[in-house]
Amino acid sequence: MVKLEGGGGDTIRLMAKQKVVLIPGDGIGPEISDAVVRVLEGAGAPVVFEMHLAGVAALEAGMDDVLPEVTVDAILQRGVALKGPCTTPIGEGFSSVNVGLRKRLDLWAAVRPVKSLAGVESRYEGVDLIIIRENTEGLYSGVENQVTSEVIISMKVATRKACKRIARGAFRFANRNGRKKVSVFHKANIMKMTDGLLLDLCRMVHAEDYPNIEYEEVIVDAGSMRLVQDPTQFDIILCENLYGDIMSDLCAGLVGGLGVTPGGNYGDERVVFEAVHGSAPDIAGKGVANPLALLMSAKMMLEYLGDYKGNKEAAASAKRIESAYLAALEAGEKTGDLGGSLDTQGFADAVIKRLGS
Ligand code: NAI
Ligand code: MG
Repeated sequence: MVKLEGGGGDTIRLMAKQKVVLIPGDGIGPEISDAVVRVLEGAGAPVVFEMHLAGVAALEAGMDDVLPEVTVDAILQRGVALKGPCTTPIGEGFSSVNVGLRKRLDLWAAVRPVKSLAGVESRYEGVDLIIIRENTEGLYSGVENQVTSEVIISMKVATRKACKRIARGAFRFANRNGRKKVSVFHKANIMKMTDGLLLDLCRMVHAEDYPNIEYEEVIVDAGSMRLVQDPTQFDIILCENLYGDIMSDLCAGLVGGLGVTPGGNYGDERVVFEAVHGSAPDIAGKGVANPLALLMSAKMMLEYLGDYKGNKEAAASAKRIESAYLAALEAGEKTGDLGGSLDTQGFADAVIKRLGS
């Protein structure tokens, strides 16, 4: 909070603008980032963006890695980032920007709300679930080995520390947000030690600290079937890394697609908000991508600044932005992926004109 003395002796209180790192990313990233920045400016959100590069964009700018140190350092310093999708070249060479960033910053939980929205057609109504994904280990540890010329192995890593903090994080999140049930998706019938460890710790955390919250264990394949039969039976779905990745896109499909599913990656000290979707090379550069999932992620960022940094202006602008995009959708003003006719900037304009004052 900046305190200024006014000319007449009045005290004027102004909220200092929060510096936030913006990584536009690759493919559709720059287009949707532009749109989102315009909406946040229109809403008077109390943030100042500092742009940094990652992904193929960093290589094209002459940097020597997809995850440049200067970008990591900026997030370490500012603590908060909004990130567009980054392309990771498949095969040999560079490792994933996203996995790298989550590990470097120890962003141990991905929180991905999946909610039916009025004006967005989908097969289901009344879906309101949240995926909480362990973000740092499992099969995404990148421990792969060529054992013989014919055999390659990939190691699934589960540590007591990471399993315990994601279990505790999921129940704490449920409690804090008035959620009733945590369903942990697992395959402990086959991966008895790794997924078994996560289950042990979920049971312990539930019994010791959160017996008020309903808890169930669901084998991930059966859970996938239950999800597509009736997603409204789920509240919080807790997953290890790989299942969480897959379930995130599956659940996006339950509520209208990747254009409407935002997310936040949370660590103890740092947070990076990003949509679930990738860089969509098939539509990149055409100006038609839906900026809504990134805008919803930015709204989560502003809510975070309100809840955890006491920034009331950020919380208020989050509300204004949410009301505006919900109103735009209800009025049928939406992008092509949702059956509408607006392009990326056209949707941003539709939101901006509804921001009110
Ligand atoms: P993708 O999510 O980029 O695209 C899947 C499909 O959804 C495509 O048909 C795409 O056009 C569509 N789509 C995605 N976002 C959209 C949007 N905002 N508006 C309209 N349509 C949208 O997944 P894909 O093709 O598997 O991955 C492409 C690249 O993105 C890969 O290099 C991958 O590694 C990267 N990726 C990056 C992520 C991140 O930075 N967090 C997450 C997922 C993938
Ligand atoms: Mg994914």
